[in-house]
Amino acid sequence: MKTIVLGADHGGFELKNIIKAHLENSGFTVIDVGTNSADSCDYPIFASRLCKKIQVGEAELGILVCGTGIGMSMAANKHKGIRAACCSDTFSARLTRLHNDANVLCLGARVLGAGLALDLVNEFVNAEFEGDRHIKRLSLIEDIENGKLVE
Ligand code: RB5
Repeated sequence: MKTIVLGADHGGFELKNIIKAHLENSGFTVIDVGTNSADSCDYPIFASRLCKKIQVGEAELGILVCGTGIGMSMAANKHKGIRAACCSDTFSARLTRLHNDANVLCLGARVLGAGLALDLVNEFVNAEFEGDRHIKRLSLIEDIENGKLVE
């Protein structure tokens, strides 16, 4: 079973804890990088803590929750090797694994109900990258990350 790392800010910690219980009940190993209270905090710090766990190989996938999921996805995508997708529908949550090999799902606790959020989580953690024609596209993204793509 995969290890999943979870992170949130004050806007997302309640949903993050619901996701944590759901994943643990489903047999996944979960790493929680916080936050764990409603005290106001800065989402880029938690995005960075989570991305580092993936970069060093302690977790395969991550889920970040803030109010909209947008700030978390912006911060996460600044990290090398991180492909973060902010999703609010199940189709995108599945396809971003199949086609983009996304390794971080970002969710908006003020956008989604808990039921839909758990459906998105299930789609994301259970889907596998299809490889094939998508590999070249991911390496082009990597080129952009390394400042190489000039066309
Ligand atoms: C916090 O108020 C809010 O800005 C944050 O949770 C998130 O929505 C940012 O994108």
